[in-house]
Amino acid sequence: MSNKIAVFASGTGSNFDAIMNAVESGELDAEVCLLVSDNIKAGVIEKAQKREVDTVVYHPKSFSDKKAYESALLADCRDKGVEWIILAGYMRLIGPTLLEAYHNRIINIHPSLLPAFPGKDAIGQAVAKKVKVTGVTVHFVDDGMDTGPIIAQEAITITESDKKEEVQKKIQAVEHKLYPRVIQSLLTKEEAK
Ligand code: GRF
Repeated sequence: MSNKIAVFASGTGSNFDAIMNAVESGELDAEVCLLVSDNIKAGVIEKAQKREVDTVVYHPKSFSDKKAYESALLADCRDKGVEWIILAGYMRLIGPTLLEAYHNRIINIHPSLLPAFPGKDAIGQAVAKKVKVTGVTVHFVDDGMDTGPIIAQEAITITESDKKEEVQKKIQAVEHKLYPRVIQSLLTKEEAK
C-alpha cells in the first residue's frame, strides 16, 4: 500500500508538481493525500486542485495561537491518514504540536548547502556573497530554522555571469529530481524496518 504524504507549501509549487510527477511515473510510491497552504494566493493551490489533491488553506492569524493552528492541521493530517509531512516552500517554522506527532517524519528542502545560508532568500544570499558553489539540502525538520539533521545534499556551481535567475534555474532543476528521490529512499528504509 502506498505511503500517505501531505505536502505543505506557501509558494508556486514547482516542487509539489515534481513530487506529483514522480508519483504518476511510479518513481515515488506514495499517495499525496493532502496539500496544506498558509497562503490563499499561493500558485500551488491551483496546481493541487488541477490534480485533484485535497487542499486545506488556513490563515494562521485567524487562530488564537500556533498551537491551535497546528492542532487543526494535525486533525486534518490524521483524518487523511498522513504518515509523512513534506515541506516544499512552506514559509513557517513547525511547532511542537506537529513535531511531536510526526517525530522524524517531517522533511524540508532548502535551496543552499546548509548550514550555509539558512532562512529566507538563500539563493540571493549565495549570489550576494559571490560563492562559487551552492546547492540543495534535504533535511529532517526540528524546531530551528533549517537546522535539522541533513539527509542529502547536491551542489551546483555558480559562474561569473550567472545572475540570481540562472542560479535559481539550476537549483530548481536539482530540487525537482532530488526531492522525489530522497522521499522514496526514506519510504523504502521505513518499510525495511
Ligand atoms: C524551493 O526552492 C525550496 O527549496 C524552498 O522553497 C522553494 C519552493 O519553490 N524551501 P516551489 O514553490 O516548490 O517552486
